[in-house]
This record gives sequence, structure tokens and C-alpha cells, in this order.
Amino acid sequence: MDGRDLVRSVKAVGYTGAAQGLRTIRAAWRRRRADAVGLPPRGAERARVPGPVQSVEPGPGGGIIRFGRSELRILVAVNGAVFWGWDGAGPEPSYALAGDCPEPDPRAVLEPDKDGGWRVVAERATVVVSRHGAVEVCTPGGVTLRRDLPPRWWEPVGGGSARWMQRSEVASDARFFGLGGRASGPRLRDGTYRLWNTDPGLAFGPADDPLYITMPVQLVVADAGTHLVFHDNSWDGSVTLREGEEGAGSGHDRPGTSVLRMDGGPLRCWMMVGTPARVLLAWASLTGAPALPPAWALGHHHARWGFGSEQEVRRIVTGYQERGLPLDALHLDIDHYDAHQVFTVDQERFPKLPVLAEELRRDGIRLVSIIDPAVSSAPDNAVYSSGTGEDAFVRDAQGRVVRGVVWPGDAVFPDFTHARVREWWGGLYEERLAQGFSGFWHDMNEPTSFTAFGESTLPRSARHSLDGRGGDHREAHNVYGLCMARAGYEGLRRVAPEERPFVFSRSGWAGMQRYGGTWSGDVATGWPGLRASLALVLGLGLCGVPYSGPDIGGFDGSPSPELYLRWFQLGAYLPLFRTHASLRAGRREPWEFGAEVLEHARVALVERRRLLPYFVTLAHLARRTGAPYVRPLWWSAPEDRMLRDCEDAFLLGDCLLVAPVLHPGADRRAVQLPRGRWYDTSTEQVYEGPAQVLVDASLARIPVFARAGAVVPVRGDDGGLELEVWAPARGRTGGGLVVPDAGDGWDEPEIERYVARWQGRRLVVEREGEDGVSEPLHPVRVRGLGKRQAQT
Ligand code: NOJ
Repeated sequence: MDGRDLVRSVKAVGYTGAAQGLRTIRAAWRRRRADAVGLPPRGAERARVPGPVQSVEPGPGGGIIRFGRSELRILVAVNGAVFWGWDGAGPEPSYALAGDCPEPDPRAVLEPDKDGGWRVVAERATVVVSRHGAVEVCTPGGVTLRRDLPPRWWEPVGGGSARWMQRSEVASDARFFGLGGRASGPRLRDGTYRLWNTDPGLAFGPADDPLYITMPVQLVVADAGTHLVFHDNSWDGSVTLREGEEGAGSGHDRPGTSVLRMDGGPLRCWMMVGTPARVLLAWASLTGAPALPPAWALGHHHARWGFGSEQEVRRIVTGYQERGLPLDALHLDIDHYDAHQVFTVDQERFPKLPVLAEELRRDGIRLVSIIDPAVSSAPDNAVYSSGTGEDAFVRDAQGRVVRGVVWPGDAVFPDFTHARVREWWGGLYEERLAQGFSGFWHDMNEPTSFTAFGESTLPRSARHSLDGRGGDHREAHNVYGLCMARAGYEGLRRVAPEERPFVFSRSGWAGMQRYGGTWSGDVATGWPGLRASLALVLGLGLCGVPYSGPDIGGFDGSPSPELYLRWFQLGAYLPLFRTHASLRAGRREPWEFGAEVLEHARVALVERRRLLPYFVTLAHLARRTGAPYVRPLWWSAPEDRMLRDCEDAFLLGDCLLVAPVLHPGADRRAVQLPRGRWYDTSTEQVYEGPAQVLVDASLARIPVFARAGAVVPVRGDDGGLELEVWAPARGRTGGGLVVPDAGDGWDEPEIERYVARWQGRRLVVEREGEDGVSEPLHPVRVRGLGKRQAQT
């Protein structure tokens, strides 16, 4: 048992009593025994490389290249994405892909290259394969974006899945991003990042890795172009990254390197090349459009572990209402369950939950329920009986149901990798809807099972259906949360077909955006936790998961009023805007930190509500284009190296730049502005980028800038939609897209396109349609006129 295991199990005992401690010791032994008999022994291995090229077989979009000891399949798809797989691996089956593998691009053909190699020339990339199996992807102009050296495998002599290693080189100026939710990001510094979804057990900070969502997805930004590479393999593994070094014109540049090591599973990958927007578009077309949250989920949420009773919930809601603070959703954690059992309600503390839900709904507040995957194995538990009847629970290699320990005590785990089990589970959400819940917060789905020592998850030997293929937890672990999200999302579509489901999940994998979003998990209270919150949202967005946000104030302990306020101000500009904290933590209501904090938090809340139409627009655009709401500053200018290294500010859509305060005691902060004219939205002061500017960041606000020419849809004083237009520079034009909210159903609102241009001294704003320009559909308010340029 290492120190962390000990602390974790003591913590679990602390929350749920001494009996739980004994259970976690028993569970740890059970887990160890299960793996001792259920996993193949690690015996002798044989190393292998592809060997020399022998023959080729052209096929649609590329073809197959045969080497002495392996074969490589290359396919360029119509969406421009390039696939390659070794040892005969094809794109399917895959948990990441949204549907069938995209069609091959008939124009991409395999042709001979120099030195006995082969290449496939496609519109956006050229793939060059050397005669020993190095794979290079170049821009159409011939600049190398990534070079994979020939891979290596280590095969167990007695049979079984081979371990493998893939070393790749990227440009010396390249920066790495992605790999799922990484607290140390968004720029991934030199180091090793593990690919195994993990509940850190304790509140985490920037140094903790891995966390709940890992993904073999790298987004690499370099002068020559941006690429996203995805190794479609859910096994345990690691990526070691090392940024390159430039030899200052000496010609001795050292490339950046990525070394990917996997414990098993196929060696196959997808790569997309282009601008960041193009790359994310191709990624979304491959792995699925991000689910559109209902509009209320883009408002303010208040959560807590330990509300404890209906009275307490009412007290909080009244607190918001009496102070005139907007509130859109309230979350109930495991303490509203009967003895912590999922799909139950504690009837003593929440005797009339549907009535409470209905009353809140009338006041415009939705209830969100936590959902844990582990089902109590108490004999009288109805979900346990029904799941047993369905043969829904994960079994070990001997065929016995795997028993772990979670909040309700001894528990069993649905096998979400089985279609029948997903369907059964999805049907259970009907009970939640009947209780009045509108949204679903999936937790503990790495999956976590408390153990006194060893890994806090299921035995690696545990058996899973893997949708008919059969396999074990080594392959199923990382997709467990993804498959649970699918079960919930698809179940809700069946039982409440008129409403867009709202599901967000702590764990997940590539493609999880199809079913909803995520949140930070148990981020530690403290300034480093605040910085980690932003890193997670930015990094996940670059992996195609645009909807997320942190526990405002941090999960544990008590933030200082200043820290709470800065977290709140940042959260107001992130997709999921939610205060949440642990059972033992201090309060998180905005009025608990003194009058000054309350007034500033009110401003943030009111501004978030005013920006709601903009958030709705960003949600629709994310669904249609894969572009995250929250983007790094380099999003539209990846060639700008200063921006590439800037991690303390972000773009919110195309229109706004947000510069949160991430350090204590600040009353001003430096902001790196990209090219173009920017307005400080509170003073309307004009700045010309690229520039670094020093602006006021007193407690009252975090700096937010609007791009000149931006058309921002906002909520007017009468609740209707208004267009806030930031004047373009003289002689320039501006514009923007607006997607009006069509309610929480499935109606497809039409995208409205606006242009702003100068006509003499008058700024004209018009709607552009297929049949010409027309009057805007909403009132227009022009801002930024008549202000002088700031001294920069
Ligand atoms: C762990 C989650 O990360 C946290 O948000 C939640 O409050 C607790 N589980 C209790 O359900």
C-alpha cells in the first residue's frame, strides 16, 4: 500500500464509516486474487519490427503495404482524415467512431516513392512510407508535420496481445496539447502522461496525472501546420512527450518527440491536418457532433455534496431568489439517495421530491441528479435484482459477478460495453424523470471501486462483452464511462424523446462529446486548482469535448473570498458554470463570502445571463463544426508563437477574449492580444493587437475584450435577443453568426448571418441571406464608438 492508497482508503472510511474500511481491504484482496488467476502470466516475449517492404496492394483511398513481418493499411477518407493501421488493423470496430468508417477518397492512390518507399497523395496531406515502415505525413507543400519511426512490438511467446511502442517526431517548434483532461496543461510540457482513466482519490492539483479522462489524442501546433493524431486503442499506455529545440539558425534543430507505449491492442491511428478549426471539424465528423445541451444547462448551476434535505435545498434557492441572483439548475448529490443507492430517494429527507422539482421548475430552476454506476448488492435493492435478471453485471474470469466497494458499500458494476445492458440501464432513467430530474451527472465511472491497496478500479481480468467481441477490463476500462454516457443518453432519448438530454460525465474517452460533457472532478481548492480548472477545459475542448467546467471554489476546504470570487468570475465564461464542493468543505453560496464578493459575483451572474444567447450560439456552432466554445488564443493564428505559449487567457467563440485572474492580490494583469483591434468590454477602451497590454483587474472584474466587428447575441433588458455590435475599425467590416434558441427540443433553428460595415460615417448592420441582405431580426446596439485608442 503506498501513501496515497492509505490516505484514500482512510478518506473513504471517513466518509462512510469503519465497516467500509474492512470492505475495502476485502475488496483489495479479492481484486488481487482475481487477477492472479484471471490474467495471462507475463512470460517471455519476442521483439518485432515491420522489416523490409515486400509488396503492395492498392485499394480505395490508399491500400496495403506488406513488409517482412507486418502489413500496413492506409486509407484517406473523404473528410480528409488519414487512417493507418499495422498488422492488418482497420478502423473498425471502434468506440470512438460515431458511425461507420468514412468513405475512402477515390482520388487518393498508392504510388511508388523514392528509395523503394510508397506514398499516397491526398488533397490536404501526403503520406510517405519508407521501405522499412517509417510513416511521414507532410503538408501539400511538402513540409513534414509528423514522422513515425517503424513501430516495435513485443509479443508474448505463448500468444496474446502484443505490447508496442511508436516513436514519432514533430517540428522543433511544435507544441503538444490534448491527451484528454490534463491538469498541468493546456500546453503539455516534457514528461510522461498515462492513458488510464483514474480517480485520483483526493482533490487534485496541476501535478496530478492521470485523471478521470485520458485519451490518446494529441493536438500538435507548429509553424508548418496543425495536426491531430488519435491512436484508436483503449488499453493502458503512456505517452512521453519532449518538445523540440531550435538551433537558432545553426541548422541543428532537435525535433519534438512523442513516444507512445501501449500494453496491447491495435496499432492504428487517424490523423487530421489543417488549421485548428479544420482539424476539429474533421475530428467531429469522425467521432461525432457534440451533443447540444438544453439552454438551461448553459446558465448557472449550484451543487453540493451534502445538501442533506429538502429544507436545505429550499433555503439555498430562497437565498438566490431573495438576493435576485440568477439560478438555473440545482444538483443533488449521493446524499439524496436512500443509503447511497443509485436510482433511489431518501424518503425521510426528501419526502416529496417530485413536488419540490415541480415548484423549482416553475421558478425556472431544473434539478440535476447524480448517477453512480455501481449498484448496491444488498439483496433488497431493486436495481440489483433487475440487473441480475438481465445478467447485467461484470463477471470475473471464473464467471462470478465482480464485487467492489463504492458509496453504498458492497457493489456490482453494469457492463456498459453490452448493448442489452445499456438498454436496461437507459430505461432506469425513467424513475429519475418521474422524480422530477431534468439532467444527469455521471460520477465514479472510471469506474472507481474503493480498495485499501492497489488500483481503485475493477480487476484487469474482469470480463466484458465489448459489444460481442469479448475481452477484459484491460481493454474495457477506458471506455467504461463513455459507454455509460451512451447508455444514459440513448435511454433518455427513448424515455423523453422531446427533450435534448443533459448528461455530463466524470470519466470518458474519445467520442464522449456525442452524449454530453464533463466537469473537472475534485479539483483542489487553491490557486493552483484554479489554474488547473482552465487547463482542463481548454485541453478537453481540443480533444473534441467542448462542454465542461470546474467545481467553482474547488472541491475541498474553504477558499478565501478572493479565490472564490476569481473562480466564480472565470466560471461565468466557461460552458458549465457550476459551484460544487465536498461534504466536508466550506460553503459555496455567493453570499457566504461577504458583501463585496456578493456584489462582484452578482455582476458575473448577471453578465452570464446576458450572454446566454451567445452561449447558445456557441453550443450550436460546436455541434455543427466541432469548434470548442473555449479556445486557446492561438486558435485563429497558430503560427503566432507568442500566442501558442499563452495559457492564462482564452477566446470565447470568435467574439470575446477572457483574461481571468489566476493569482492572488492582483489588481492589474498583462494580456496578450492577438492581431486586430480589441475593445475592453467594460471601459470600451480600444487596443490594437498584436500587443501585450496591462489592464485593470481589480476585484470587481476580470478583463474581457471584444473583437472589433464582433456581433454578439445577448439578452436584452426585456428578455429578448439583441445584437451587441462592436464597431469595426474604419474601413473594415465585421460580422458574426447567431443561432437563436429554439427551446430545449430538437427544432433546428436557422443560422443568422450578420455583417457590419461602414457607410460613410454610419455603421450599418445587415442580415445576409441567400436572397440578399435585409434588416436584422433583432434590435442592434453598437458599442465602441467614439473611444480613443489606449496607450499600449
Ligand atoms: C466524487 C465526485 O467527483 C464529486 O463531485 C461528488 O460530490 C462525490 N463523488 C460524491 O458523490
